[in-house]
Amino acid sequence: MNKPNDLAISATDLNDIDSNASHDNHFNSILNARLSRRNWLRGSAVTAATAVMGSMGLSACGGGSDAAAVTPTPTPTPTPEKLLAFTAVPKSLADVVSVPAGYTATALYALGDSLRAATPAYKNDGSDTDFDNRAGDHHDGMEYYGLSAAGAPLASGAERGLLAMNHEATTDEKLSSHFLHVNGGTTSLPRPAAEVDKEVAVHGLSVVEVKKTGSAWATVNDSAFNRRVTPLTDIEISGPVRGNALVVTKYSPTGTKTRGTINNCGTGKSPWGSYLSGEENWAGYFTRSATDNAARGDKSVASLNRYGRSQGAGSRHGWETGGSDDKYARWNLSKIGTSANGSDDYRNELNGMGYIVEMDPYDKTRAIRKRTALGRYAHESAAFSVPAVGQQLAVYMGDDSRNEYIYKFVTTAVWAAADANPADRMATGDKYLDSGKLYVAKLAADGTGQWIELAMSNALIQAYSAYKFADLADVLVNARLAADAVGATKMDRPEWCSVNPANGEIYYTLTNNSNRTVNPSGSSQLAPDSANPRAYTDMKGSSAQNGNPNGHIIRFKEGTGAAAATSFTWDVYLFGAESGADASKINLSNLTADQDFSSPDGLAFSPYTGICWIQTDDGAYTDVTNCMMLAAIPGKVGDGAKSTLNYATAAGGNLAVDTFIGKKPTADTLKRFLVGPVGSEITGISETPDGKTMFINIQHPGENTALANIGDPSKYTSQWPANAGYGAGKRPRSATIVITKNDGGRIGS
Ligand code: FEO
Ligand code: CA
Ligand code: CA
Repeated sequence: MNKPNDLAISATDLNDIDSNASHDNHFNSILNARLSRRNWLRGSAVTAATAVMGSMGLSACGGGSDAAAVTPTPTPTPTPEKLLAFTAVPKSLADVVSVPAGYTATALYALGDSLRAATPAYKNDGSDTDFDNRAGDHHDGMEYYGLSAAGAPLASGAERGLLAMNHEATTDEKLSSHFLHVNGGTTSLPRPAAEVDKEVAVHGLSVVEVKKTGSAWATVNDSAFNRRVTPLTDIEISGPVRGNALVVTKYSPTGTKTRGTINNCGTGKSPWGSYLSGEENWAGYFTRSATDNAARGDKSVASLNRYGRSQGAGSRHGWETGGSDDKYARWNLSKIGTSANGSDDYRNELNGMGYIVEMDPYDKTRAIRKRTALGRYAHESAAFSVPAVGQQLAVYMGDDSRNEYIYKFVTTAVWAAADANPADRMATGDKYLDSGKLYVAKLAADGTGQWIELAMSNALIQAYSAYKFADLADVLVNARLAADAVGATKMDRPEWCSVNPANGEIYYTLTNNSNRTVNPSGSSQLAPDSANPRAYTDMKGSSAQNGNPNGHIIRFKEGTGAAAATSFTWDVYLFGAESGADASKINLSNLTADQDFSSPDGLAFSPYTGICWIQTDDGAYTDVTNCMMLAAIPGKVGDGAKSTLNYATAAGGNLAVDTFIGKKPTADTLKRFLVGPVGSEITGISETPDGKTMFINIQHPGENTALANIGDPSKYTSQWPANAGYGAGKRPRSATIVITKNDGGRIGS
């Protein structure tokens, strides 16, 4: 970690008053209180005099008990907090976490860290075992859940809490997760059981208690809350798909449960205080025989093809070869049994993956549930509309693959204030997430859009020739096919989404899309359109990157009906680009060197400061900078202008694409806050409810390290976090970091 200096601008934090004033421990109540009282200063410089006053004020606060004997002086007017007052962090290729002067970032919870006293400290040399009781790998989405000083659930708890997080995947090469094995592991089939067991166990979720002592945060080893969830944990299927023939397996002949969760990516925090996790690239872990189409001979072939498992597909790690035990067999999707319904094999196993998974982070005795009403696809985050009593809730979601769709789920139940602090969080999840309507987005060139319901009542779904849907469960399991049927808009890889608490607008990162081209050929290539308007070439050294290599961020404003609206308007908030790129075609948001970024992925509005945090998972600009996190104060849909991009076609014509570009950012509304170590993506955004501590994840540092170099640390492309003084060994490790401001202020000020 870099060592920040102490030259930060000091500012008295008016909003701190709010964080201690509420007796309601529900986070949305806190949020609403904050929003009603907040006083942002936008675009105004903090003067030198203000900074000095702020410093004096802080000194006085620490003045000691004899201050009571001094004649009181008039209370100075508090200096309003200025967000984004920090100095932008430059782009960097250094193998460190860089944060602004005045901030401190420290590794807190890394791959392999023990969660209990009986599991030894991580040696980080490939010999460690017992990953069921250690931090998993590839930390991704993450949420913070407060605890009281005594350790009871308390949403407003800012000095003790739980971090619930996703462990998406592992760094691998040729089947093997090479950093996990002494000599890099086995790169051919069959894979040894011991290697498979270790690789499986680093996937899933973890819950770890964290606690602040003085100014330092640490995890609490052996906390009763500490928990691992893996691809072997029993999980209930909930909602319309529960018990359906499509999810009958040898493991669950009644179609009511699945074995575990995998490739968990973005997250969500429900208004009732539960944890939501999106299952993303799960399909790649499964294999199918080269003759499985004929063995099946039914519509399941169309479903498997649409979800990325055509016959003959190999699995990412070869886990199906770990042995004869059923826990290995489940990774083989081939129809090999003789039953009519699939109760003697895993032909339907893929239908149990691809959901939003709900967990009560406070109670490990409660079953985790897959919320099938929200549809099955490559889920990223799940963002709730701002709850309003008596109104339905919306959950916004995206499907992260090239040319996939944006979705929302609207609850049947209307929001009840008492559910903000329920006696039973999972039962409250049943109430809101097991019944409702799933919609997909269709965006028009005029800046409007429609939410189209995916239901059997839709004539386009009934008449779809490529797949005959049987019932609602079939529509939900095959949401991609249903969205195809209704002509939804193909997007440039929807990643995270988040709702701006100030106005309810919905932001989606569209990370990049190599399939955008002015002259499309084949079924996967698409011409630029209004909502995905760029197709260009960016050079990375001598390598040409075509399509929309830098990505963009689109945002929606709901129409009549708010969360339940069936129409919306949209514009593009920001276009990722290099600051030196052509401002008329590529750098359409006029990003400066302090703001330029590529491949936005994580995105979340702070419920406490209102800052929009943007994180990158990039491969296009990594010749210049490692991945990063930026802080933004956006405006609103329609604050910019309509623009037309003109492309010369191969046939000699002109392709004119109208789009809507949001108001261009200034130095006061968008600023780079952090740059990560070599090879990492930045992900996971969570804060304590006082806004003063932020937790984020550094995923897969050193991911380009070759398997052949395992054992030679000098050839690891990253040695983070060991090079920052964290932990044993020199193998790079995914890790949670904690960020605080040295003057005790809120993060982003
Ligand atoms: Fe797991 Fe789409 O990132
Ligand atoms: Ca470039
Ligand atoms: Ca992601």
